[in-house]
Amino acid sequence: MSEIIVESRGHYEVWTFNGEARRNALSVAFMKEFDANLARVSGKDRTVRAVVMRGAGEKAFCAGADLKERATMKPEDVPVFLAEVRRIFRGIEQSDTIFIAYVNGVAFGGGTELSLCCDLRVIAPHAEMGLTEVKLGIIPGAGGTQRLPRLVGQGVAKDLILTGRRVGAEEALKIGLANRVGSQADAEALAKEISGNAPIAVALAKHAIDDGAHVSIDDALTVEQAKYAHTLTTEDRLEGLAAFIEKRAPNYQGK
Ligand code: COA
Repeated sequence: MSEIIVESRGHYEVWTFNGEARRNALSVAFMKEFDANLARVSGKDRTVRAVVMRGAGEKAFCAGADLKERATMKPEDVPVFLAEVRRIFRGIEQSDTIFIAYVNGVAFGGGTELSLCCDLRVIAPHAEMGLTEVKLGIIPGAGGTQRLPRLVGQGVAKDLILTGRRVGAEEALKIGLANRVGSQADAEALAKEISGNAPIAVALAKHAIDDGAHVSIDDALTVEQAKYAHTLTTEDRLEGLAAFIEKRAPNYQGK
């Protein structure tokens, strides 16, 4: 059985985490398949420019670590697996592809951490998110203590992480944890809109925002300048200009 069901929609894909019975919790087998899919859409071929990820069923996006599997792991194997999760999650940020988490049900612990690595989050009206780890005697271990404050600020992050409380869709939107409250169609509309833009420019803009976020403004502007200079070398830029002059839609090749 596939851990992830992949549906192609032209320039974007929908990935459904196929573990409804365990609320799409992150198992070893799941992470291995996720890693393979991530590598596939992060290669030189720019056909796939965006990915919408969702959980199977309506109850959960992802219930975090697979706690049943974790209970069977040798203590020395846990840090090894966690290092692998951290590497794969970082790969989402480093990829030129745009990732949209469609949080279509609960996202707790690693489920919220996975969504934090994505570029955008769309949350279903009934869904809930939370870094609930301190309730289990641990702390977020897949980037949550670092990525959440970068997204929503330290004060809000401490409120959420130290209480371990769950937030609903409206609060997630209000604090900037979610970009939009909506349906899968809304998440896919976002993916379609982004994947219709010039893919090299989109990727460079993603990395410019990420790379410039925590350096001085002067260094950040240098980051932007370097990424902008890169766009000047692309065929897509010429296609964008030609399409504008010829009053037609551009057909970007990612070159
Ligand atoms: N790992 C492994 N299995 C999990 C799981 C997890 N993280 N979360 C849920 N499951 C399993 C349950 O054990 C249950 O299995 P069973 O049918 O064999 O008993 C099944 O998924 C359904 O769970 P249930 O609690 O009955 O469903 P629900 O829809 O009412 O609630 C959750 C779902 C996710 C809200 C609830 O299961 C939960 O709080 N899970 C723990 C999440 C968590 O704390 N994650 C952070 C980890 S750091």
